[in-house]
Amino acid sequence: MKKTVGVGKSHSKIILMGEHAVVYGYPALAIPLHQLEVTCQMTYMDMDVLWSMEYLEGVVSEAIRSACAYLGTYDWLNLVAEVRSSIPEQCGMGSSAAVAIAVIRAVFDYYDRELTADVLEDLVNQAEKVAHGNPSGLDAKTCLSDEPIVFRKEVGFETLPVELGAYLVIADTGLKGQTSQAVAQVASLGQEGQVLLSQLGDLSEAFIAGLAQVDLSALGGLMIQAHALLRQLGVSCLEADHLVAVAQEAGACGAKMSGGGLGGCVIALTDTEVAAQAISQKLREEGAVNTWIERL
Ligand code: MEV
Repeated sequence: MKKTVGVGKSHSKIILMGEHAVVYGYPALAIPLHQLEVTCQMTYMDMDVLWSMEYLEGVVSEAIRSACAYLGTYDWLNLVAEVRSSIPEQCGMGSSAAVAIAVIRAVFDYYDRELTADVLEDLVNQAEKVAHGNPSGLDAKTCLSDEPIVFRKEVGFETLPVELGAYLVIADTGLKGQTSQAVAQVASLGQEGQVLLSQLGDLSEAFIAGLAQVDLSALGGLMIQAHALLRQLGVSCLEADHLVAVAQEAGACGAKMSGGGLGGCVIALTDTEVAAQAISQKLREEGAVNTWIERL
């Protein structure tokens, strides 16, 4: 039985360590961000709708299409999604995965059909291929998780409590990130890129192992090294490099770009809320268009 309106929700994510390296099988650590959410309301419009190519080729229509194909219904062109999101687009915060999750949940809710976690993840990854090209699955998994996760492509994920008593400042450079271009650029580096990716993988492993010691300056040092390697891979940008330097000057234990890069966000680790607010303020003064503070 169809409902009048189907509803779906999801939340954002941020990668602490391991972006790009995760595409090559190295571990990544990412956390859900519950403060940034997407909701989708799905209704049926019983008339011909003239969709733009942008819509038809985007993640929303791909999510509707993959959900309808799974459910064996052909009316995907008549389903209208109203998406409301507080997650900035193309910012490294998983907006496309989060939107795909909310849309697919809304389609299943509209048809009043059960949606298992495995089917949802599969459909999200199908829709994500449009936005990402070759997603590792990390974004989808983190936006589906309520806990921080360690993710290894083709191996799986484990939840991992991150209890540092610390704060993460997230700052948007204001430049739209370009994940699929960045992933393709890394792939084109060949052997030289593989060496850097393996070093990034080692830093991720060290960060994950080091969480238990709660040594913020050691963890921050690993973030700074990771940022340097991401720069060498060519996926950072001047704005992100500048904000990373500003965060360090403002007293952060460590800072790095986060996500696909070529724009998007940087993250900075610090010990107290007061310090986080001061770093956040400094980052805004120095060009960040938005900042968020997350307890770690
Ligand atoms: C994008 O948020 C993270 C990347 O590692 C790509 C991926 O994992 O699919 C750059």
